Amino acid sequence: MATNVTSFSHLIFHACLLFALHLGFTSAQRSTYIVHMDKSAMPKDFTSHVHWYSATLNSLMSVGPTKFHKLGSGPRLLYTYDNAIHGFSAVLSPKELQTLQTVSGFVSAYRDQTVTVDTTHTTSFLSLNPVTGLWPASDYGMNVIVGVIDTGVWPESESFEDYGMTDIPAKWKGKCVPGDQFNTSMCNKKLIGAQYFNKGLVAANPNINISMNSTRDTEGHGTHTSSTAAGNYVEGASFFGYAPGTARGVAPRARVAMYKVLWDEGGYTSDILAGIDQAISDGVDVISISMGLNGVPFYEDPVAIGAFAAMEKGILLSASAGNDGPFLGTLHNGIPWALTSAAGTIDRQFAGTLTLGNGLSIVGWSLFPANALVKDVPLVYNKTLSACDSSKLLSEANGAIVICLDNGYSNGQMYEITQSMVAGAILITNDTLYEDIGEFFSPAVSISPKDGMTVINYATSAHEPTVTLTFQQTILGEKRAPAVAAYSSRGPSPSYPGILKPDIMAPGSRVFASWAPNLPSARIGSNLLLSDYNIISGTSMSCPHSSGIAALLKGAHPDWSPAAIRSAMMTTANSFDNTQNPIHDNGIPSEPATPLAMGAGQVDPNKALDPGLIYDAGAQDYVNLICSMKFTKKQILTITRSSSYNCSTVSSDLNYPSFITSFSNETLSIQVFHRTVTNVGNDAAVYVAKLEAPKGYSLSVSPDKLSFQHKSDKQSFTIGIYGSQQKNGKVSSGSITWVDSIGHHLVRSPIVVV
Ligand SMILES: *[C@@H]1O[C@H](CO)[C@@H](O)[C@H](O)[C@H]1NC(C)=O
Ligand SMILES: *[C@@H]1O[C@H](CO)[C@@H](O)[C@H](O)[C@H]1NC(C)=O
Ligand SMILES: *[C@@H]1O[C@H](CO)[C@@H](O)[C@H](O)[C@H]1NC(C)=O
Ligand SMILES: *[C@@H]1O[C@H](CO)[C@@H](O)[C@H](O)[C@H]1NC(C)=O
Ligand SMILES: *[C@@H]1O[C@H](CO)[C@@H](O)[C@H](O)[C@H]1NC(C)=O
Ligand SMILES: *[C@@H]1O[C@H](CO)[C@@H](O)[C@H](O)[C@H]1NC(C)=O
Ligand SMILES: *[C@@H]1O[C@H](CO)[C@@H](O)[C@H](O)[C@H]1NC(C)=O
Repeated sequence: MATNVTSFSHLIFHACLLFALHLGFTSAQRSTYIVHMDKSAMPKDFTSHVHWYSATLNSLMSVGPTKFHKLGSGPRLLYTYDNAIHGFSAVLSPKELQTLQTVSGFVSAYRDQTVTVDTTHTTSFLSLNPVTGLWPASDYGMNVIVGVIDTGVWPESESFEDYGMTDIPAKWKGKCVPGDQFNTSMCNKKLIGAQYFNKGLVAANPNINISMNSTRDTEGHGTHTSSTAAGNYVEGASFFGYAPGTARGVAPRARVAMYKVLWDEGGYTSDILAGIDQAISDGVDVISISMGLNGVPFYEDPVAIGAFAAMEKGILLSASAGNDGPFLGTLHNGIPWALTSAAGTIDRQFAGTLTLGNGLSIVGWSLFPANALVKDVPLVYNKTLSACDSSKLLSEANGAIVICLDNGYSNGQMYEITQSMVAGAILITNDTLYEDIGEFFSPAVSISPKDGMTVINYATSAHEPTVTLTFQQTILGEKRAPAVAAYSSRGPSPSYPGILKPDIMAPGSRVFASWAPNLPSARIGSNLLLSDYNIISGTSMSCPHSSGIAALLKGAHPDWSPAAIRSAMMTTANSFDNTQNPIHDNGIPSEPATPLAMGAGQVDPNKALDPGLIYDAGAQDYVNLICSMKFTKKQILTITRSSSYNCSTVSSDLNYPSFITSFSNETLSIQVFHRTVTNVGNDAAVYVAKLEAPKGYSLSVSPDKLSFQHKSDKQSFTIGIYGSQQKNGKVSSGSITWVDSIGHHLVRSPIVVV
């Protein structure tokens, strides 16, 4: 389990956490298990699932010689679940587990898993505006509830004030649970729910002290993600002078319900399931979950299992792809019944300007959190020093600004510079690190190799070269944006490569949002700095953008299914950047991004409001797909929970708005996909297919024209991809776009051959 945020301080922080957890992990025999039960097998004499589960556990008490049972040594119930799964979690001995497996109604059990840690402007970048489109059409999300499964919330943050909010929707069944430094008055018409779940954590670490036993956020992550999805308007916000303006969430009037499941002390699957279970029963409309597990099958993945139950109730679960890019096959949450978001850059540069002694100015990247006085300081370019990999060597340039060349280890350079006696640095690199995630602990500016030549020429030719650095600049309209962030995890999904993932890309790099004001968000040298806001990067940040947009779409189209919302977001996504060139990939800079990096492309909320056609899917369609996954009956039941589903239809041909395939035979063959689209436009319409074949393959579509008489009419088509196994192992991509006769709706699906 990793929260998908990328920043050095966080990585270090989490690494310490992991270490602490391993030390605390001593209980040898008993462990926590998540137990799935078939509720339809519940004997009639039990009045509720809670009774049945408790009685089942109690019956295990007699296992083994009774005389050895001390108080508290029997099986212990942590949670009963009734929404995300049917079952419970409990602390069990191996013997008790064995007996449990023979009980009628038992489906499966697996061990609770530990964590293995692996905006002011984004709304206008997404073209959200008060005049037309999704904001006014959805009343800014006023009637929609976003459930955020995360590290908690800082309730005093201005993003969670409730001015301008109407009464809480009547359907809301959630609570505001008091705890350490958290009472019920901290919820309001914006932050409508606050609940916390740590029984799994405590069961695994019986002597642990929870530092903040309440929904209050002690990591900042949950405050950032929830304010990104649905924070209220805050005037005059900024991060140490950067990103100044009005902060607001994507769905600024939507309600936030926080479910704290991740703790400073760690995170456990059983707690995450409890959070999702509660969110479903409370009546949220969208679940936002910026974390994921790597390398677990769907039937042991709490996000996949919870997402299925949510989907059945019409709740879209929106999750992050992970930060393990740019390598292929690194993605998590590749769940066919959830929405999976990649992270992209924004057209906003946080900048510092360097002005040379000869008057020439160059703008570079910086996020140095102060207006440092670096005026007419000696500029040093010295081949010995320019690797900037030794603070001792660097200190020989005491008080100067040094020029550092890219040595492939930028993090280390910033560390050495900060440790040394230099006044600051000019970092010459074409690495996108400083655009995506790099932190600035010293007065420093990062510039391109091209600008670097100018600076080096000056430094080597001037008699007494000097430079002035200024910071805290924010430049909008940066070209080219968006790009796929290098760290964003890539498909194909290891848990199921047959559905193209990620689905969509949303802003994830350098996202500005609220923060816990008692947690350092920046530092100068060794001085930690506090702020109500933070600028951080990761698919953790892109996911709540998608969640907010999904919430707005739910507000505008309350009748749309989770699949319909996802389809609208995907088929209207943009595969071009703000220079009208194909979106590029910061991870593989010489190539355009493929759908394995960005899915259908950059989400375009206003277009998603009116997609023309949608590719819909319901629970039975997903079950047909699950039936094709070669799982056992019990593994399937673990996900679907209900034996009312069966595998009478087995189909991997899910009605999904994208296509992925591979050819394993050198002989020419054809892969055929069947799809059905629903007209969600108001009128009769005729659509014609426009094909763009993946390089090295050919496409056919039948029919190539679809006529709809009325709204809600459905039409089906097949698409064939012809080709054979290619030796070069290259990913090849294309698309099919259904275009209506007035050219108003372009319903585009990416096609990938891997
Ligand atoms: C909740 O805590 C706040 C701040 O400590 C306090 O002002 C308020 O009176 C408390 N409310 C209740 C219901 O205890
Ligand atoms: C937890 O807190 C109690 C009381 O402050 C203390 O006695 C105990 O040693 C702490 N336990 C751990 C594991 O830190
Ligand atoms: C956290 O608070 C709840 C409610 O007061 C309490 O039941 C629980 O035992 C506490 N947990 C820990 C680990 O202190
Ligand atoms: C570069 O720095 C090294 C180490 O401080 C020093 O020995 C050398 O003289 C410098 N070279 C120039 C050209 O200034
Ligand atoms: C980055 O710069 C180095 C030299 O400074 C160059 O060799 C390399 O090709 C550049 N990479 C990209 C992606 O531009
Ligand atoms: C399987 O499910 C389908 C759809 O619900 C139903 O029509 C069919 O009768 C079921 N088949 C069996 C064998 O239960
Ligand atoms: C490739 O396809 C041919 C023709 O359909 C078939 O005879 C052959 O067995 C296939 N080879 C493999 C490795 O599947």
